[in-house]
This record gives sequence, C-alpha cells and structure tokens, in this order.
Amino acid sequence: MSQTDRSNGLDGFQAANIAAEAGRLCSVVYRSRAVSALSDFDLYRLVQVAQARNATESITGLMLYDDGRFYQWLEGPVESVARIMRLIRSDRRHTDIEILSDKPTAVRQFGDWKMRLATRGVRSIHSGHNVVVPSSLELEDIRAHPEHAPAVLAGFSSIVGTPPVLEPLSNGPLKGPAGALLKDIIVTAVLPEMVARRAAVERTTPWPIDQRARALADLLVGADNSAALELLHTLQDSEGAIRHLYETLLEPTARRLGDLWGADLCSELDVSLGLGHLQRAIRVLNEEVLQPTIPKGVYLPAVLIVPEPGEVHMLSSVLDSDALQNAGWDPLMEFPDSDEALQDLMADSWFDALDLSLSPSFRREAWLPRVTKTIALARHASRNPALVVVVGGRIFAEDSHAGAQVGADAFTPTALATGKVIEKGIAARTRK
Ligand SMILES: Cc1cc2nc3c(=O)[nH]c(=O)nc-3n(C[C@H](O)[C@H](O)[C@H](O)COP(=O)(O)O)c2cc1C
Repeated sequence: MSQTDRSNGLDGFQAANIAAEAGRLCSVVYRSRAVSALSDFDLYRLVQVAQARNATESITGLMLYDDGRFYQWLEGPVESVARIMRLIRSDRRHTDIEILSDKPTAVRQFGDWKMRLATRGVRSIHSGHNVVVPSSLELEDIRAHPEHAPAVLAGFSSIVGTPPVLEPLSNGPLKGPAGALLKDIIVTAVLPEMVARRAAVERTTPWPIDQRARALADLLVGADNSAALELLHTLQDSEGAIRHLYETLLEPTARRLGDLWGADLCSELDVSLGLGHLQRAIRVLNEEVLQPTIPKGVYLPAVLIVPEPGEVHMLSSVLDSDALQNAGWDPLMEFPDSDEALQDLMADSWFDALDLSLSPSFRREAWLPRVTKTIALARHASRNPALVVVVGGRIFAEDSHAGAQVGADAFTPTALATGKVIEKGIAARTRK
C-alpha cells in the first residue's frame, strides 16, 4: 500500500496504525471510585458515549467496573489519550483517580476495541454489546493489589479480534425468561471465556464466536438436534474439546445461573430449567464421545453417584457420572429421596466410593450439617468399612474447607477431576 493510499479515506483505526508505526502511541491505566453506584443503564450510557468519542480519537481499551470501582486501560496517540484523560479527570461521576501505569507503547494491546466494558454479572441491557466478564479471582486480585490491574486488564485482550456485532438473538423453541437468560449467559459470559482460554492455549486465529455463540445458545435452550450436532462437530475439532466444554461452559454456566438468582435476576425455577437444558446439552455431547476401551483385568472402582437427598439440582451428579463414564468407568447413579434410601443402597452393594453432590448453582451453606449427617449414615450402612466419600457442587468448589467440614475424604473442584480424586482417596485408604 502506498503512502497516497494511506492518506485517502482513513478511518480512525487505520490512522492509529500509522501512529503506531510512527511510535507515538501510549497507554494509560488508572483506577477511580464511582461517586455513587451506577445502574446498568448508567454504565451502558457511559460506555456508549466513551466509545463514540474514542472512535474519533483512535482510542482503544477496556473499562472494568466492579463494586463502585473503575479500572480503565486507554491507549492511542499520545495527544488523544491526554485529551480524553482531561475529560475523564473532570468527570464528576468518579473521584480518587490513581494512575497505575502511563507509558509509551509500540503496539496496541486491545486491537480495535473502541472501549470494551468488563463487568461482573450478566446484565441483560449489555447483551449483544460484548461485555467481558471478569472472574471473581481477577476481581479480588485487583482489589487487593491495584498494581496488578494493568496486567489483569491486558489479560482480557486475549479475547482477540474484532468484537463481533451480534445480531439480535433468534427465539429458540424455549421462550421466556429461562431461554433469554441462557442465551444471555452464553453470549456475554461463557463464550468469551472459552475463546479467551482457547486463544491463550492455542494462540491461533481468533475463534469466530458470533456464529457459534448463537448456535450454542440455541442448542441449550432449544430442541433442534440437527443444529446442535452440527455445532458439536465443530466444537470437537480439536482433541480435548469436550474437556473444554465441561470446564469452560457447563460448570461456569451453572454457577452463573446461581449468581443471577442471588442477584434477584431470575427465579429459582429459571435456574432449574436452565440446569435441565444444560443436562440435555451434555447428553448430546456424550453421544459423540468414543468410550475408551479399558484393557481386561484393569480394576475400576465401584462408585455410587447421588445428589444429596432433597437436592433438586442434579447437574453435578450428571457431570461426575459422565466424566467417569468418559474415562471408561461404570458408575451407578441413583437419586435417593432420603438418607434411609441411600443407606439401603449402601447396604445392598459394595461400593469403593460414594460421590455425593449439592447444587452446582447455589452455595447451599445451610445444608452442610445435613450433608454431614448423610455422610455419617452412609458410612455406617456401607458394606465397605473403608468407603471413600467425595463431595461435589458449588460450595465445595468454592470453599476448600467445606469438604472436610462435612466428613468427606475429598472434594471434586470440577467434574473432570472426579476420577483422579476418587483414585487418590482409595490409594490413601489402602495405605492406612
Ligand atoms: C470512569 C469513566 C471513564 C470514561 N472513559 C471515557 C473514555 O474512554 N472516552 C471518552 O470519551 N469518555 C470517557 N468518559 C466520559 C468523559 O468523562 C466524558 O463524559 C465524555 O467524554 C463526554 O464528554 P463531552 O460531554 O464533553 O462530550 C469516562 C467517564 C468515566 C466516569
């Protein structure tokens, strides 16, 4: 491309590239405190205005808002950044501006993100605007160590490529809040995370999320199996894709459903419906998995998988069962409706391990004494005096002490770890 071509009809971003070549780019990262809490709409408006202005100034970056704090990464031509920073400094919606990093840069970290918003929770108003959803770990990290903010914000840029403009989502066969909710989650929260992880792992071309996001959302909330299978074939294009789905899609989606409920953004019924749809998605996924052949003579532990009696959310059990089956094990999954029914199961057959789970969505802290009792009764009724008890579900994944508190031998932080955790538990018992 000749110099003349470049000077004709440049848009802001092409101009910015030229500035980069000339080495006049800089990046500024700051944090500040909101004067009063921003509603979803306030935040949406703020970002919209910022994006429009930034486009004219060739500014790119990311703004994170959480718990009354702003963290913003701005990058672009030095004079433009200075101009926008002046506006930002005099904005009365925030105060206590602290510069965390201010330096010249040769390349943009955020490609052509005019100013992407990162915020927790799934805010329906932002749906379709490609909100980046930070993890609680990332949020805790920058709250405790603001100096880490530049690195954490830069990490979000691994969601590479042009932010896709999402078309309005089509209505899947499931209408109503559960359908809308799941679509919202998949599009705004889960898929960007999947893409980020894949990008981090593979560092290849960006995954085109818009098409697949819509298709996957439809899979989860709809009943169109042919579309679902087509999508799953694409997802399975790399070895271990199913594993990615467990870790990056199903369990986080379940937790997010619980967060939405916690934030009063959906009903308990929505959560249950959403979990049901995830379960259906797993069925489809597993039809595609080739069961490994276990050589004859290899001893596989006998495992009973049950949700805590009274637990209506079965997804943790289903995921654990599928993870074990995919590893060639043959677990038995049951749904005892009382401690007595579980005791009968324990007394009827020999089990090396009991896998007991609580909701993947709700924390259920108040249930811990109840789980303690269930485990004690199950051990008492078990034919195997060295029964290994592993627990799963949101509370155990988030609080590493909860497992010991209820008298379990171990907890499964994710369904994928179930086999390993059980094997370790059995090995530890055998050594005793
Ligand atoms: C935390 C925070 C971040 C902001 N980021 C930007 C930004 O990146 N770009 C921008 O133009 N305005 C940003 N603004 C808004 C500006 O302060 C200002 O309101 C906006 O540029 C409109 O200015 P105008 O009323 O002079 O057109 C931000 C405001 C706040 C509170």
